[in-house]
Amino acid sequence: MEQLQFKKNEWIVEQTSLKKIAQKVGTPTYVYSLSTIEKNYFEIDQAYQSIPHLIAYAMKANSNLTIVQTLAKLGAGADVVSGGEIFKAIKAGIPPKKIIFSGVGKLAEEIKYAIQMKIRIFNVESIEEILLLDKMAQQFKQYVSIAIRFNPDVDAHTHHYISTGKRENKFGIDLNNLNEIIKVVRNSKHLKWNGVHAHIGSQMTQTRSLTRAAQILSKLVSQLRGEAFPIQTVNLGGGYGIQYKEQVPKISSYANPIVQLLKDQNVDIIVEPGRYIVGNAGVLLTRISYVKKKLNKIFYIVDAGMTDLIRPALYGAYHQITALDKSQKSQQRVDIVGPICESADFLAQNRAMPVLKSGDLLVVFSAGAYGSSMASNYNVRPYACEVAVRKKMWKIVRKRQTWNDLIQNEIQWIKK
Ligand code: LLP
Repeated sequence: MEQLQFKKNEWIVEQTSLKKIAQKVGTPTYVYSLSTIEKNYFEIDQAYQSIPHLIAYAMKANSNLTIVQTLAKLGAGADVVSGGEIFKAIKAGIPPKKIIFSGVGKLAEEIKYAIQMKIRIFNVESIEEILLLDKMAQQFKQYVSIAIRFNPDVDAHTHHYISTGKRENKFGIDLNNLNEIIKVVRNSKHLKWNGVHAHIGSQMTQTRSLTRAAQILSKLVSQLRGEAFPIQTVNLGGGYGIQYKEQVPKISSYANPIVQLLKDQNVDIIVEPGRYIVGNAGVLLTRISYVKKKLNKIFYIVDAGMTDLIRPALYGAYHQITALDKSQKSQQRVDIVGPICESADFLAQNRAMPVLKSGDLLVVFSAGAYGSSMASNYNVRPYACEVAVRKKMWKIVRKRQTWNDLIQNEIQWIKK
């Protein structure tokens, strides 16, 4: 994050001191830079400027209302995967006409809500879903726009848990089912097939795979138009990589070949970036509770864990971590672990870190995407506080949960 700088012996987000935030609201706390979110959005907008396009922010990356509101103000749409995400997108001011509903397991009640809200388009992922959607559209006396999410069998060359475009993945409909799809949609009464979609994976650190997917979709546009389906939108999903450690391509390197391929096809492009917009716009602040030395290992036991940021435990993901106070120079190898009763509860392993003590603060970088949105209450741990920064101003945009919040939905059947 450019807005995160070490200045005058302090880590500053925009013009606000991280230490001050930690002192005021405690830890663990997520801190987001709204200007960085805006800058990232504009970069994508710029890369696709020569073709009509919609940036549908993937809410799953971080659905904090202030973040989504910030994007709504810039004209963003939303890529959603649940009724809850539709609800939050609308609450944050995203017009339903800019909401795209993806997901392999849409429930009937979520479909009903989406139809009633008159969202823009459903990315449908199976024949059974097409049949259900048609039935429900008929029931609510509406015509519903659909895009078929194709599974192009393209390798995104990313962690296998976040690869979604290979035939063995559960996502999308195989290209060799095309004739069957054509038949089913032709027989439908209330569906308008006007888009094609593919999202092949997340955190792609090369551009070839996305270009390959775009080539496949571009061919499909011509083929389907030949079959008299008025295909108007090509949705290439998200997946742009961000720098956790290694350098990644610029947004324009992903976008240029796509724009070249599609610019003469008279289509609108939809993109669904999540991580690129918020990933490097957020950090996680955590405090060392204990330093523990074992035979040949040192642990920094911190107050954030896999319940706050599961990426290291789930994908072996690397997040840069630095001490808030950089005065200590001598280094040692440590594991940075949380308080949770799981050995997978680590933020970093065998990491060179300055010699630190309990009470010291750490900053976990690139934590804006798939951090708070994947949090859990395991071990009855409250969700972390979330803070947004705009220059010198900052505000709590999600309160830390209390223990009472955690029992809100429980019903004590056994009377005391
Ligand atoms: N569109 C669809 C249909 C998706 O499934 C996803 C992400 C996106 C867009 C946004 O992808 P992005 O631009 O953020 O890469 N929890 C994992 C990432 C899971 C991504 C799931 N789908 C992680 O922490 O790396």
